[in-house]
Amino acid sequence: MTRVSFIGSNGSVTVAEGPPGARLLDVAQAAGQPLEGTCNGCLACATCHVIVAREQFECLPPPSAEEEDMLDLVPDAVRTSRLSCQVVLSEELDELTVRIPG
Ligand code: FES
Repeated sequence: MTRVSFIGSNGSVTVAEGPPGARLLDVAQAAGQPLEGTCNGCLACATCHVIVAREQFECLPPPSAEEEDMLDLVPDAVRTSRLSCQVVLSEELDELTVRIPG
């Protein structure tokens, strides 16, 4: 299980757990986080944008070129931005902290 801490735009912290193979978007939505995920992972909407803690960003498999292209269109994207529909939890990942953009 990966322990995921979601930091809301108002600073609130919500902690959830997800099994290996779970998409971060699904874990976030199950924990009540306000990520629309309108296209449900088709890389067409970017409403699933999250900002990963810098120290954990490097532990994730890198984004695909398609994900990078979509992130380029997100106005508040930063260097550690990811689309949560493309992030899959794994056995090796004990903890993940992500910020939900405002
Ligand atoms: Fe649409 Fe992630 S849900 S890009």
